[in-house]
Amino acid sequence: MDPQNESHLEFTAQRTPDAENRVEEEGEKIEVVDQKYNSKKPQWWYRVSASTSRAQKRAMRAILTEERRLPKIQYGRFYEWREIFPSTKDDHDDHDIWIELGFGRGENLLALAHRKHNDAVSLIGMEMHQSGVGTTCRRMQKGLEGGQHWTDYTLYSSAMDPNTCPTEGESKIDPEMTEDVPEISATSDPTVDCHHLPKNDLYGNLRLWPGDGVKLFPKIPDSSIACILLTFPDPFPEDREIEWRLIQVSTLREIHRILRKTSGRPFSGRFFLATDHEGYHKWSHDCVNLLNKDHLMLELIEPCPDRLEWLPAVSHYEEKGWNEGRRTQLSCWVAREL
Ligand SMILES: C[S@@+](CC[C@H](N)C(=O)[O-])C[C@H]1O[C@@H](n2cnc3c(N)ncnc32)[C@H](O)[C@@H]1O
Repeated sequence: MDPQNESHLEFTAQRTPDAENRVEEEGEKIEVVDQKYNSKKPQWWYRVSASTSRAQKRAMRAILTEERRLPKIQYGRFYEWREIFPSTKDDHDDHDIWIELGFGRGENLLALAHRKHNDAVSLIGMEMHQSGVGTTCRRMQKGLEGGQHWTDYTLYSSAMDPNTCPTEGESKIDPEMTEDVPEISATSDPTVDCHHLPKNDLYGNLRLWPGDGVKLFPKIPDSSIACILLTFPDPFPEDREIEWRLIQVSTLREIHRILRKTSGRPFSGRFFLATDHEGYHKWSHDCVNLLNKDHLMLELIEPCPDRLEWLPAVSHYEEKGWNEGRRTQLSCWVAREL
């Protein structure tokens, strides 16, 4: 069954008798279960992925080399980011590491690698489906062969969004609402000249992990990540499927652990979510509310920071949702010290 076709289906939160796990919302009891994410997805989920073509396999061999792939590390060890991104050795404290969990065909990940090339930002892209990794590698290869970033992504603008058409200023951060929430980064100008970089430098700010990202989280040191992006996660809309949703209270606990917690600059770590599935959006907010039950761990920022800063590209998946009448909903939470 195709999760994309399923995503319009009615969502109902699971009901359990456990009063501990109840979160009250709009006068109604919504049940969220504090359970672990099941990384062993159902068989149909693996089948919906296109098989990997020869060209994709070739590109994966060429791209997933030591300098572009996040290395495996021994059980019980943590990543040492200074070793992975050596250019950050001297200025590590000012350096931000961003993770995109489930980058699909890589539109947004590669757009960010391009747009943040001159910023002190390094990106880690995690994707389980080999065909998505293959497409992304082909795109990177195309860029490398031409000596410049792959720029064939669709850059978001509110004018093209069939559901929200704010005026220019409306999509920006409201300074009153976000006094202690600094802008994500100062630059990110796509017109920035990065067209004549040495080959080694192209995508030097990016490492790929072709596997399950959630399983990798335990190897990430505490408070070391500036942003985690989860864009259009598979909704698994049925009650019996909730164990496969990436957002679970246990995943959020890990996300909170690895996000940076500070009370000034550099800004505290953020978790960004984009989804076009109403039920998944609600489920995610309910899970965060349950996580925050005793202590505020992830605080919702409203309005959500300008998407061009973190979701500049319109992916194939998002566009398909628009064409089928779905609306993109954006959320951002900031990690708070316990
Ligand atoms: C519906 S697609 C969206 C892809 C992309 N974010 C976009 O906006 O086009 C969800 C993606 O998440 C990936 N995914 C699901 N669980 C994952 C996990 N645990 N680790 C890495 N990727 C995962 C899937 O393989 C799939 O490519």
